[in-house]
Amino acid sequence: MNRHSAGQSTPVRVATLDQLKPGVPTAFDVDGDEVMVVRDGDSVYAISNLCSHAEAYLDMGVFHAESLEIECPLHVGRFDVRTGAPTALPCVLPVRAYDVVVDGTEILVAPKEAD
Ligand code: FES
Repeated sequence: MNRHSAGQSTPVRVATLDQLKPGVPTAFDVDGDEVMVVRDGDSVYAISNLCSHAEAYLDMGVFHAESLEIECPLHVGRFDVRTGAPTALPCVLPVRAYDVVVDGTEILVAPKEAD
């Protein structure tokens, strides 16, 4: 079966837990998409790395662990790293969110099924 069939998405291994420094956003390629991955303790979150407001990369921004938000480095807009929803102006459009599975020490990322 074609792995791009509707409702199908193959998780991509991006790193191991110990390679991801807690609170430090890091960009990875997931099937040709640039994805920002950030670790908070044993939880890992992944959203698109490109801000929806203008041309800026979220892995260059600041992660706020207390609110699970990433702050864009260019105009300090924010996104919820769990959903990709904008949480601070000037960002009003969501960015794509990804499912994350931690399998042992391996971190696997895939587009959410609804995409
Ligand atoms: Fe991200 Fe403007 S480019 S807030």
